[in-house]
Amino acid sequence: MKTQRVLTGITTSGTPHLGNYVGAIRPTVRASRLAEVESFYFLADYHALIKVGEPARVQRSTLEIAATWLACGLDPERVTFYRQSDIPEIPELTWLLTCVTGKGVLNRAHAYKASVDKNTAAGVDPDAGVTAGLFMYPVLMGADILMFNAHQVPVGRDQIQHIEMARDMAASFNHLYGEHFTLPEAVIEEHVATLPGLDGRKMSKSYDNTIPLFAPREQLKKLIMGIVTDSRAPGEAKSTEGSALFQLYQAFASAEETAALARAYADGIAWGDAKQAVFERLDREIAPMRVIYEQLIQDPARIEKTLQAGARKARAIATPFTARLRDAVGLRRLDSAPTGTKEKSVKTAAPAFKQYRESDGLFYFKLLDAAGQLLLQSRGFETPRQAAQAIAGLQQLGVAALDSMQPQLAEQADPDALAAALAHFQPPAA
Ligand code: TRP
Repeated sequence: MKTQRVLTGITTSGTPHLGNYVGAIRPTVRASRLAEVESFYFLADYHALIKVGEPARVQRSTLEIAATWLACGLDPERVTFYRQSDIPEIPELTWLLTCVTGKGVLNRAHAYKASVDKNTAAGVDPDAGVTAGLFMYPVLMGADILMFNAHQVPVGRDQIQHIEMARDMAASFNHLYGEHFTLPEAVIEEHVATLPGLDGRKMSKSYDNTIPLFAPREQLKKLIMGIVTDSRAPGEAKSTEGSALFQLYQAFASAEETAALARAYADGIAWGDAKQAVFERLDREIAPMRVIYEQLIQDPARIEKTLQAGARKARAIATPFTARLRDAVGLRRLDSAPTGTKEKSVKTAAPAFKQYRESDGLFYFKLLDAAGQLLLQSRGFETPRQAAQAIAGLQQLGVAALDSMQPQLAEQADPDALAAALAHFQPPAA
């Protein structure tokens, strides 16, 4: 089996909390121990600059997040663990990708759109307070992923759109300049529940309801004691449904332990006792890691060394790959011969169908316009023949074929763009 490359980043804009641990750090560290994966983990500190305007906080968060990953068992010998800003090839690739990314695509990015919608609702300029950094966020993220030709990118649901954009950037670039990039896929941990925070809503920095992963034992206890519950008295049966405390326990406990707490709920355990049980269970998993974390935090020089070593590993890939990409786009020494006689120019490029097989074993096609932007994306077909027949139908009938094809299509551009591209394939009118 071909080794799968898995890559993910964490923005260095805060202190890791239990939700980060359960949702990202713990599953990722476990996955990194599998034999058939090659993992890349990095501290997305360039991304942090988009949100954080405090240099000391960016530095502190970088230290805390690096120490957290290491304390949670990430083995820097085994994986490539680095800091984004140690890889100058990443901002360089960001520019190359910027030049093949439609501005309209970025206009539709969720985070940017949310800011615009908020401004519009407030009756101010749509772009008020929006930096170009926020607008370009998906391209920087695309560069993170494509630089290392990652196959899989474990992320939260809110990041799926960014991975899709990275795929489109890769496809556009490949279409224009040849096959350089792997098309990445988002990996969503389906069975990892989102953790509730202190107030019962999703644990999130933006709700200010988080429990820091490495809060000292006493503080952890105090925070857990403060989780919202209902007002049922000791002795009264309690519902596990919608109980933040119960969900928190479940994320750490075995199935048997969870079942036992459910019985205790039914038997009317007092909230104070339930909280004590939850605290003890969490601390049992966290305490050994906390010891390592405290040691690491005291020794930033050691972490710095680890990151420098990681950067060397990462750049051993990024530097030659960037040289290849520079050559591909024509950023070349003047005394070097053009590499290909059949190099095409963007202007004569035509829309094209691409047929391919995915790791799910199904056959797909997509239609790209002359600039390599995605116009149409099919769902999976059982056989390559079915995919080819669908393409033939589109080529012969143009947009008229679209109606009956809806169930087979995952994505489509606006009708005008599609019609223009499909017209390209039809025989000239008699
Ligand atoms: N945007 C991601 C987040 O906020 C962090 C990130 C930056 C990332 N670059 C990445 C994740 C590349 C995966 C791959 O969670």
